[in-house]
Amino acid sequence: MTVQALPAIGAPVTRVDGRLKVTGGANYAADWRPEGLVYAYQVLSTIANGRIASIDAADALRADGVIAVLTHENAPRVNGGSSNPNDRALHVLQSDAVEYDRQPVALVVADTFARAKDAASMVRVTYVTAPPRTRFDQGEIYTPKAIHGEPAEYVRGDAVAALHASPVRVDAIYTTPVEHHNPMEPHATIAMWEGGKLNVYDATQGVLAARARFAGVFGLPLDDVQVIDSFTGGGFGTKGSTWAHSILAAMAAKAVGRPVQLAMWRPQMWGGVGFRPATRQRVALGATHDGTLQTQIHETTAQTSLFDEFVESSGIITTMLYPSAALRVTHELTRLNFGTPTYMRAPGESTGSFALESAMDELAYALDMDPIALRLKNYADADPTKNIPFSSKSLRECYERGAEAFGWKERTPAPRSMRDGRYLIGMGMASSTYPTNRSKASSGYEIRPDGTAVFRAMGVDIGTGAYTTFTMIAAETLGLPIDRVRYELGNTDYPPAPVAGGSQLTASLGSATRMAALDARTRLIALAVGDEHSPLHGLDPASVTIVDGRIVAATTPSRGETVAALLTRNGGTPLTGVVDSAPGAEKDEYSMHAFGAQFAMVRVDPDLGTVRMVKQIGAFASGRIINAKTARSQYLGGMTFGLGMALLEISRPDDRTGRFMNANLGEYLVPVHADMGTIDAILVEEDDPHVNPIGAKGIGEIGIVGAAAAIANAVYHATGKRMRDLPITPDKLVS
Ligand code: MOS
Repeated sequence: MTVQALPAIGAPVTRVDGRLKVTGGANYAADWRPEGLVYAYQVLSTIANGRIASIDAADALRADGVIAVLTHENAPRVNGGSSNPNDRALHVLQSDAVEYDRQPVALVVADTFARAKDAASMVRVTYVTAPPRTRFDQGEIYTPKAIHGEPAEYVRGDAVAALHASPVRVDAIYTTPVEHHNPMEPHATIAMWEGGKLNVYDATQGVLAARARFAGVFGLPLDDVQVIDSFTGGGFGTKGSTWAHSILAAMAAKAVGRPVQLAMWRPQMWGGVGFRPATRQRVALGATHDGTLQTQIHETTAQTSLFDEFVESSGIITTMLYPSAALRVTHELTRLNFGTPTYMRAPGESTGSFALESAMDELAYALDMDPIALRLKNYADADPTKNIPFSSKSLRECYERGAEAFGWKERTPAPRSMRDGRYLIGMGMASSTYPTNRSKASSGYEIRPDGTAVFRAMGVDIGTGAYTTFTMIAAETLGLPIDRVRYELGNTDYPPAPVAGGSQLTASLGSATRMAALDARTRLIALAVGDEHSPLHGLDPASVTIVDGRIVAATTPSRGETVAALLTRNGGTPLTGVVDSAPGAEKDEYSMHAFGAQFAMVRVDPDLGTVRMVKQIGAFASGRIINAKTARSQYLGGMTFGLGMALLEISRPDDRTGRFMNANLGEYLVPVHADMGTIDAILVEEDDPHVNPIGAKGIGEIGIVGAAAAIANAVYHATGKRMRDLPITPDKLVS
């Protein structure tokens, strides 16, 4: 059988769903209008620790259009806990306890959104307030048993003794703040009950896990829950879990016997929908005079909530990026009065790379060595902790191509040595990496007698371009023009696929799609060569191919017929199938990661301490790139988030009340166009035969990894001031 391998870097195909989105035809969760829809609005706590003393909903219940008010006193009893460690424990009006700011304490249902929101302001809640724990020094520090099922500690040799014995060493504390995901689309859920069955439109990164969560909370069989999410306006991790508001929407729908929409208001996004936890990281590196690392110590302390555990895995990157005889990587937690933190934009790797790659820059200065040369000196040819080879690694090429495009050789090494008029110029770099994940996934196909094909799976397009890339894989594999293939996603009626998180959906569902399309192709060809009315009758199937919707003899393309003609003649019904795929034992044999190199150039005002981005260049090798256009957009998005992390993003709690003070997009700053300099991402070609059937590593998260360190390193180069506490705001540079 001759099947074209997918190209190393696929065509830059424009989003197949782009037109639908820009014309308003794409329905996001809150856009659906089931008949009889009513609207719920959450009343959130104004304290972070204590309990509800009283709730007076009388005025709210008298307000125009109000249908119901749910509180912990009248809400149905449900199970907000879970045995799945990926689920977050939920506060869904089951008790009077308040454990974080903006915890749901009541829910108002009314005939319009505006009336529900208005009436919510009339619900009077009084509290018994206790002082909140908001700082690391207030809580007990403990070591978690595991990080998402993996060890929390890694020890090789005597890392402390090796540090003392190293002639050149750096040892410093790096801190990163609480950040909130803030996708463009705030969380939203529409829930409706039909008989005992629950149907939900939910803004989520994964309908499969969402269905399981709804079923678990309400004690329903999986088949009695349907979750749909056709379009998602960004997730970045916050939509990777099902949170309290989604459950509350379903609870309210049951209580009022009508479909209920619950859409969150932007400031409510600082409530219980997760965030990136603050970290305090010690990184100590010891090296010989030639720059060879002898030891690496990476100790992370991060926050979790009083009632659940999430571990920010900052040290994991240090176990695999550079080799050293001795290593000590630890993770600790402390419980604070905030909601439970969660996965956010390369969780672990983002925060960890800031510390490690800043420390590597500090070491390069201590050694008087070029930062790229130091990294090349410590290039890991195999995974230093797992002691297995990498399935592929093109980090050298990333350094080279990134440095070339960036103009690294123009950099003069000494801090404060480059200027543009009165401004200080700095150039910095950092390594980047992200693990290649894959979960089992299935893809369903339907090849229709009109020559078109429909594929289906539960996977969700969270804005990444998944609709487009999966359509491309199906079309290229099947030999159909792309406009004759449609992919339907985000519905639990379709074959299962994992959450669009951990940069895994393309590797998982892309593999399933490739296998499903190959299956359909094989069946079509078998049908043709076995059909005595086909011009291909009797040919060896291996000598037949499908090109542009025609099944043809590979050597004589004029001999053949269209897929439509073949199917029309053979019963006129669609050819359907479902193909399951799952990772094998490859992760035991190979360490699988994407790699990259980040470069940043900044311009610093020496008097005002303001940092302006001049240029960001990233070079990434992530295996096979399905779509050069959407892949580049993913990288640029990650790098942009890196700028946010380095210079802008922080959620600031008031230590007296535990309330976030800047809970809006006016004061929580994310990068806008005016913040950006020149930005580009280089797609480094890489062939990986081991990772999965399509050879694709994830691209969703690697773009942010190392970006903040590259910028902090550039700021040091510009100013001579080492910024170890993010974000790098002007006050820190002028003090
Ligand atoms: Mo991503 S933080 O794994 O949704």
